[in-house]
Amino acid sequence: MSYPYQITSYEQYNQAYASCEKDPQAFWGSVAEHFRWKKKWNKVLDWNFREPKIEWFSGATMNITENCLDRHIEELGNKPAIIWEPNDPEEHHRILTYKELLFKVKQFSNVLKNNGVKKGDRVCIYMGMIPELAIAVLACARVGAIHSVVFGGFSSQSIADRLQDAKAEFIITCDGAYRGAKDIPLKSVIDDALIACPFVKRVIVCTRTRTPVSMIKGRDVWWEDEIKKVETHGNPDFPAEEMDANDMLFILYTSGSTGKPKGVVHACGGYMVWANYTFVNVFQYKPGQVHFCTADIGWITGHSYIIYGPLSAGATTLMFEGIPTWPDAGRFWNIVDRYKVDILYTAPTAIRSLMAYGMDYLVGKDLSSLKVLGTVGEPINEEAWHWYHKNIGKEKCPVVDTWWQTETGGVLISNLAGVTPEKPSFATLPLPGVHPCLVDENGKEITGNNVSGNLCMKFPWPGILRTTYGDHERCRLNYFSTYENLYFTGDGCLRDENGFYRITGRVDDVLNVSGHRIGTAEVENAINMHAGVVESAVVGYPHDIKGQGIYAYVIYNGHHGDETLARQDIIQTVTRIIGPIAKPDKIQFVTGLPKTRSGKIMRRILRKIAEGETTNLGDTTTLLDPGVVEQIAGLRIKGTLIRIKD
Ligand code: WTA
Repeated sequence: MSYPYQITSYEQYNQAYASCEKDPQAFWGSVAEHFRWKKKWNKVLDWNFREPKIEWFSGATMNITENCLDRHIEELGNKPAIIWEPNDPEEHHRILTYKELLFKVKQFSNVLKNNGVKKGDRVCIYMGMIPELAIAVLACARVGAIHSVVFGGFSSQSIADRLQDAKAEFIITCDGAYRGAKDIPLKSVIDDALIACPFVKRVIVCTRTRTPVSMIKGRDVWWEDEIKKVETHGNPDFPAEEMDANDMLFILYTSGSTGKPKGVVHACGGYMVWANYTFVNVFQYKPGQVHFCTADIGWITGHSYIIYGPLSAGATTLMFEGIPTWPDAGRFWNIVDRYKVDILYTAPTAIRSLMAYGMDYLVGKDLSSLKVLGTVGEPINEEAWHWYHKNIGKEKCPVVDTWWQTETGGVLISNLAGVTPEKPSFATLPLPGVHPCLVDENGKEITGNNVSGNLCMKFPWPGILRTTYGDHERCRLNYFSTYENLYFTGDGCLRDENGFYRITGRVDDVLNVSGHRIGTAEVENAINMHAGVVESAVVGYPHDIKGQGIYAYVIYNGHHGDETLARQDIIQTVTRIIGPIAKPDKIQFVTGLPKTRSGKIMRRILRKIAEGETTNLGDTTTLLDPGVVEQIAGLRIKGTLIRIKD
């Protein structure tokens, strides 16, 4: 496998950037030549941000799995596609070669077909990090079904919401999943979700933990039994469905500042080119290297940099089932040592957490195979950047700080490892085809250097989202209506004297907790579901490990006065409604919330109090009742439960 479009010098980067700016259609057309298409495109790009309408490679047909699997067989058939490291280091790891992976994907495509899955059907995947998860994802893509992977940390209620929104009639899950010392009963979570989703026709259950499960006749089937059926009756050469380049490939739900999570939709052709192009360029992947992305496939990072990017590039991708701190905080370093990992891609929150465990866990670990380090998901503070660079990269590995989003499909702003300059805590420069701009509140572009503003994009790149599932208007309103003719990212950003970008965090009501996106409105809705809660307001506050923690102000009217119990009940409610990832870190009981005369909660003030500021709270004169602020600030430390008498 060679990558003629891989940029190998700073000069070449500048040339590629300029030539893509001059003629994006010619540029992306020539990159796309290096993929397998069934039919070529009539037009590379057709777009407007007004509707929005974005089409890449119109008229082309293809299947992403032929690009990820079939086309590699001749050259890489016996090379490892997936190395799988189980949660328990005592359990045997698995290696799937490209040939074996293709075989299993074809087999499971037969299973999907036998179970009635057709092109365009939505399939919800709720599994732990086992190779069968990658197989399920790829088999959906092969039969042309739209996968919607849901992270294992979401509750039944969240799954039900997603099933209903996508009208998904099929589910692929496991009996359970291992995560560190815990077993998570995935199938039973699904069973609870299905009480509200009678339209689900089939649940395919893969065995992992063999925890007891209830298999419902006519609806639930075992993965292994279904495989047995196709061993004798299936088509061993399951041909890939011919997909239009602009057909949907997958839905991935993500949080915004309002309402329930929305289903971000990516399309087959553009997403494939972008996942591959960014993988090859940002990480500077060289054939034969082992790429270890520590994300979960339930998030976009796993989709793009465990599955589609690496496999479309014929790379070896390492998939890890466990967590960084179990059995101990040396887990990542053991894996790097054992498999001679070349590229390690992880989140700042993991780096900060491992940093806090100290250097003991690095003793005796051979990390000399590492060539490139990467981070994603949240701003990385300089201290963590330097620790990573020095102690893991031994000052010889470039660190790529990759900024991107579920909606962007792949990296938009990042240094290219060892090729373009790096700067701690800066994502630095945009990839070719990416045209960032900073705007002020009124949508006026802020030009020049040493400035900051809201980060927008002026032009589409191949991996841009196409719609939000079932509600195109929501997509327009969320991303394309704040500023005319611009895609708005929701992030604040500064541009330094060299034109390097540094992302400073969300400017909307979206939290980033341990690199996971959670909407404040979503958490508030969940808290408000608790019978004793009158009203709540949620903000983020700086957290040493998680980046941001969740701080909830709650007006409580519960029947008992024990604040510890009240807190536990609220946390339990959030766990039920969203999942454990959205649990508030701090709950402060209050008698009122600072509101403007029009009833809007003044989060700016609540954020300041959550950050520990109790006196200098800015202008409170526009508040309906300024007294409430003093009270909240005064009780911040104690957080006493105040009962409201009716
Ligand atoms: C944040 C994850 C600073 C940002 C791929 C963005 C970052 C949100 C970085 C998207 C980075 C991601 N530096 N902030 N390198 N990468 N973010 O959709 O706020 O889960 O808007 O996608 O994470 O999160 P999402």
